[in-house]
Amino acid sequence: MSVAQDPFSLSGKRVLVTGASSGIGRQIAITCSQMGAQLVITGRNTERLEATATALHGEGHTAIPADLSQQQGLDLLADQAGALNGVVHAAGISKLVPFRLISKSHLDEIFDSNTYAPLLLTKGLLARKRIASNGSILFISALSSHSGAMATSAYAASKSALLGAMRSLALEVAKQGMRANCIAPGYVRTPMLDGLGQGGGNMDALFDLTPLGMGDPEDVAYASVFYLSDASRWVTRNYFILDGGLSTPMDIYA
Ligand SMILES: NC(=O)c1ccc[n+]([C@@H]2O[C@H](COP(=O)([O-])OP(=O)(O)OC[C@H]3O[C@@H](n4cnc5c(N)ncnc54)[C@H](OP(=O)(O)O)[C@@H]3O)[C@@H](O)[C@H]2O)c1
Repeated sequence: MSVAQDPFSLSGKRVLVTGASSGIGRQIAITCSQMGAQLVITGRNTERLEATATALHGEGHTAIPADLSQQQGLDLLADQAGALNGVVHAAGISKLVPFRLISKSHLDEIFDSNTYAPLLLTKGLLARKRIASNGSILFISALSSHSGAMATSAYAASKSALLGAMRSLALEVAKQGMRANCIAPGYVRTPMLDGLGQGGGNMDALFDLTPLGMGDPEDVAYASVFYLSDASRWVTRNYFILDGGLSTPMDIYA
């Protein structure tokens, strides 16, 4: 396999990013466009999705609004996405709910958007042969899938499920030269995190534990570019914790 002169370039690649109407997905789409990719972006809120489309660099991008918790939305996106070299599953939701209060409807709501949507969308794209033979499939999981956090059992479980599914998927698509990986971010400044703070989470205490402080969407976007580019052509079934050092919080300076 040959790599472009700049192995980190996304020039000539067409990349689908879900959750592109806000936060991390929005920044992944913008950064990918800056690295030369042509984007297919999706989200539910058409106004914010259009704002992301306007912020993209270069030409030829496509915005497809869709609710990915509905089969209709998944089918529409898989039908209209066209040929792809990369897919980033960044869409997701989060709610703080203590374990004693979880219910089937809460689990369904979280799993529909965080787990079933990325898995079923991937299935739909593969079934329609939308992803090129050297394509890269990237799931945005979360640090809590690995470490757990208070009142996030449904969310953490929905994100852990991506890890197991990705490892199996990566084996199945390797023969076609496709790769599948997960990025698990720690705390990143986005509207989702603002919502958790307003929902009663003691976020400041968690931020204080992070040696490099809170992350920005750009930090996840830069890692995503690596996973989408030919620079990561030998990287698959990989689970990358990107957390500013939070998951090993021993304070050796104390
Ligand atoms: N922020 C963090 O600290 C953090 C840490 C670890 C992992 N993550 C993960 O990173 C991803 C992005 O999070 P974020 O912080 O950027 O959140 P965000 O700002 O709330 O953005 C979430 C995005 O997901 C989309 N989305 C949610 N449910 C959807 C559905 N059913 N169908 C289609 N689109 C849907 C939203 O679309 P609309 O707004 O258009 O409805 C929005 O574009 C999520 O998967 C999240 O779990 C975030």
